Amino acid sequence: MRNMTDAFALAEHLAKHHQSHLLVGVAALAEAERTVYLARLAEIDWLELHHRLTLHTAGDVGPARVLDQGERQRRKVELEALGESAYAAGQVAVLMVAGGQGTRLGSTAPKGCLPAAPHSGKSIYQLQAEKVLSLSRRVKKAVPFLVMTSPMTDGETREFFAAHSNFGLAKEQVRFFSQGTVPSLDQQDRALMSGPGKLLENPDGHGGCFTALVKSGNLARLRSEGVKQIVYIQVDNILVPVDDALMVGAALAEKSDVLTKVLEKANPDEKVGHLVKIGTRDAIIEYTELTPEQTRSRNAQGDLVYRWGSPAMHCWSVDFLAGLADRGYKLPLHRSGKPLKAWLDGKIQEVKGWKNERFIFDLIPEAKTSIGLAIDRDDEFAPIKNATGVDSPASAVELAHRQFAGWLAAAGVKLSLPPAARIEISPRFAATKSQFLARWDGRVKELTGDYYLEE
Ligand code: UD1
Repeated sequence: MRNMTDAFALAEHLAKHHQSHLLVGVAALAEAERTVYLARLAEIDWLELHHRLTLHTAGDVGPARVLDQGERQRRKVELEALGESAYAAGQVAVLMVAGGQGTRLGSTAPKGCLPAAPHSGKSIYQLQAEKVLSLSRRVKKAVPFLVMTSPMTDGETREFFAAHSNFGLAKEQVRFFSQGTVPSLDQQDRALMSGPGKLLENPDGHGGCFTALVKSGNLARLRSEGVKQIVYIQVDNILVPVDDALMVGAALAEKSDVLTKVLEKANPDEKVGHLVKIGTRDAIIEYTELTPEQTRSRNAQGDLVYRWGSPAMHCWSVDFLAGLADRGYKLPLHRSGKPLKAWLDGKIQEVKGWKNERFIFDLIPEAKTSIGLAIDRDDEFAPIKNATGVDSPASAVELAHRQFAGWLAAAGVKLSLPPAARIEISPRFAATKSQFLARWDGRVKELTGDYYLEE
């Protein structure tokens, strides 16, 4: 293996991958800066950046096995009991990916710091952490809460949690680890710079969480603690449950390497990933990688081929992930065209380029056993992606409000609410409907406006 600290070897290596421009001006850098920069250039896998993913074709695609609402109901008791015993035995951890830059929200702070509760003003991080707290109290186990950050969100995220005393969670429960980055490229596949001696890089996608989990030692730690299942959530969905015995039970009963929650798409063109079977293996195909004709195609029974949308919630088997790690598995990169701000000709300029990311769901085709679990979108899906309109903080708060109104109505509270009224129920009081119904003491009989229930 060539010694990359040898300047000549590095120059030759970069030339082979058409990246020689990265060495222009290197001599002018201060020594410490130059050392860091050259070391980074040497460690990048330039070959994978040139690799083009082969996308799947419509002809290969069939339905994945999905536990639909009917099967969920029929097997509810069995599955919940299995899941409960796994939670009680400390075999379940929660992993939240929070490394994205939230560019669509127009904010530079980590998405998790954004307020997303109408009365308390709690942040997304607080809402998610309090769900883990509520679960931990219920099952009387300090459920590990793994928080994946990126170099762009790590410092602020750690500070935010520290400033709020980890939102009540024990220190050893909250485990931060950072994903990696990959260079952004121009349209000729040449790496871009963000300044002298600095590559322009972006977080390597939520798929970066697989390598980062292994590299940081967190996967080994979970194994040594006897954790068998990882409940995977995205920071941006404020309704995502972490206390879901039926899901964990389904993963165990089906001996699945991975379980993926799915929902019926709101319309054929909804912008989500799709769980399908390709040949003998399941896979998720992202909407961006399908033509409108493929997205709308139907099978002989008249069902949409791309019927099941993925709200990006999974239950991963720790043994499955460990097996992939043992064989050195690496997720591929997907590229998407983006306007980027790069340092060119001595100044920052906007250029059209490629952002490269790994997707966690590309692990699914590696799974021998994969299943889908149908969910009711209103119960579990309120993503925050945009500053306003669809999938914004306001729409997510409204969806959460509707859920809480539903819980209160189910408990017999009479609701006569004006459209602007908002209900907020703290996860510390109840994080699921069944917990709410078990704990509700009938303290109000009727609601005619805003309502906030804290512990
Ligand atoms: C994603 C899914 C899509 C799914 C939808 C549901 C992809 C490519 N698509 O779309 O299939 O239907 O969510 O909401 O994932 N993140 C990181 N590090 C990164 C990039 C992202 O941690 O480098 C995290 C973000 O913080 C966020 C999540 O991943 O929590 C989703 O990322 P985002 O880029 O917003 O995905 P979407 O395009 O919305």
